[in-house]
Amino acid sequence: MYNYEDILKKYKTPSYLFDIDILLERVKYLKSKLGYDLVYAVKANTFIVQYLKDEVEGFELCSYGEYNIAKNLNIPYNKMVISGVNKDKKEIEDILKNHDDILKYTVESINQYNLLLELTKKYKRKINVLIRLTSGNQFGVSENDLKEIIKNNQNNLIEIKGIEYFSGTQKKSIKKISHEVDKLIEITKELEEELNFKIQEIEYGLGLPVFYFEGDEFLEDEFLDSVKIELERLPKVKISLELGRSIAASCGFYLTKVVDMKTNKYGNFVILDGGINHLVYYGGTLGMRIPHYEIYPRKVSEFVNYNLCGSLCTINDIIVKNVETRKLSLNDVFIFKNVGAYSSTEGISLFLSRDLPKVIIKKDNSLILVRDTVKTSDLNFPKEVKE
Ligand SMILES: Cc1ncc(COP(=O)(O)O)c(C=O)c1O
Repeated sequence: MYNYEDILKKYKTPSYLFDIDILLERVKYLKSKLGYDLVYAVKANTFIVQYLKDEVEGFELCSYGEYNIAKNLNIPYNKMVISGVNKDKKEIEDILKNHDDILKYTVESINQYNLLLELTKKYKRKINVLIRLTSGNQFGVSENDLKEIIKNNQNNLIEIKGIEYFSGTQKKSIKKISHEVDKLIEITKELEEELNFKIQEIEYGLGLPVFYFEGDEFLEDEFLDSVKIELERLPKVKISLELGRSIAASCGFYLTKVVDMKTNKYGNFVILDGGINHLVYYGGTLGMRIPHYEIYPRKVSEFVNYNLCGSLCTINDIIVKNVETRKLSLNDVFIFKNVGAYSSTEGISLFLSRDLPKVIIKKDNSLILVRDTVKTSDLNFPKEVKE
């Protein structure tokens, strides 16, 4: 599909390649299938944010770091959803004091509500807020706390617009989504009946799945049609879909080279110059599933069974176990697909002080290097800090 020869000559491995044409097509597809506003969860991939500026209606920023990335990429403040479970006072104060046009803040606890109230009073700012409803973990508030917050919100500075809800990623079951929709309908009704509070907005992270592995193929068109039928049951308020994986995964490729090969009585082992420090396939624990990949250069040799391993000092660093593939040679390059979401942000990238991969953006047939190799040995190096 790509001219890998040119890419590899110029950039070497390991590298990520994020293809913006694929990304934009993907957003168009999701919008046409679902028909709702999209809020991009920046945690999935920070390198594609700027290309989504005009394509999505919001950016979910779960830390001050993500906020700074978005700010420095000139994402408009009126598209920022300031979110996250740890809202540091100084950081939130910096955002709230300096900007009166933040799209909205989320509230994950009564303490967070009180913090926002204190700051809105101090700076005489009006803000819009979504309260995150818990799905039974450390995120969001209980139904009781939600009702308490709404009941006690007797000020004109915080406007509670509605609810944020996210219970988990990679949901392949329509039934699960259907239960969540039921829950959102129920709580909307309760708030109206008990507190005379009308929800204006629901921001729903429905955790749309990506099918990463061979044999996992499914009919996404039909799946999304069923999702849409469920979403249409939601209360008739403004609905936004908070998505990371489903937006970002397909645009990403990870290029990693064969640097060593060996055979023992347990099998054939291939050592690649990348590994689980850079590559995260949800559900692919210990290389038991085969992700989609290509090999460069293309081969016509016989098929051999290999274990594809990374470069970390752990037996867990197996990208794929027991895969039948064309006979390999040193310097062959694997191009792993669908790595646009979470691989570049979630990998255990500091382990073993291996360098971080380059990041290459492909857009309109040109390649742009947006991050060079980063030496993690510098980050892992102890240097006394003058206090
Ligand atoms: C609050 C919230 N919203 C949205 C997302 C994005 O989820 P996904 O990548 O499954 O779309 C996450 C992921 O962790 C999240 O925590």
